[in-house]
Amino acid sequence: MIGCEAKPPADIADPGQLLFLGFVKKEVNCARCHGQNGAGGPEAPDIRTVFAKYDEEVVVEIIEVGKGEGPDAMPSFETQLNEEEVDLLLKFLKSIQIELEP
Ligand code: HEC
Repeated sequence: MIGCEAKPPADIADPGQLLFLGFVKKEVNCARCHGQNGAGGPEAPDIRTVFAKYDEEVVVEIIEVGKGEGPDAMPSFETQLNEEEVDLLLKFLKSIQIELEP
């Protein structure tokens, strides 16, 4: 399980990636649902094409407010993240974007 280790791997220095992986705040662990590389999993979609789908402010809104309803929803992280941390997550998300399938 990712996020269970107390110490991050030595080769990861990007603060946004460390946040995403749950190493900075244990209540913020995007990888738990979206996978370590953002490719998604049984709990959550692939987020490696979100900037092709949405404007940046929509991505921010999804992170802050959440998305969807019920047990399969994306939770809100508004109270867990400050503006700087949201920015770091955005930068990391941009770094993992892939081309949309034609
Ligand atoms: C508890 C599981 C869970 C966690 C933790 C989680 N997400 Fe999500 N996320 C989801 C689910 C489920 C959806 C799809 C919601 C929907 O479309 O109804 C989603 C959707 C998204 C989307 C939009 C994807 C799309 O194509 O519409 C983004 C961007 C996103 N999450 C980013 C993040 C980030 C960044 C974090 C960490 C701060 C995070 N998520 C943490 C479950 C999670």
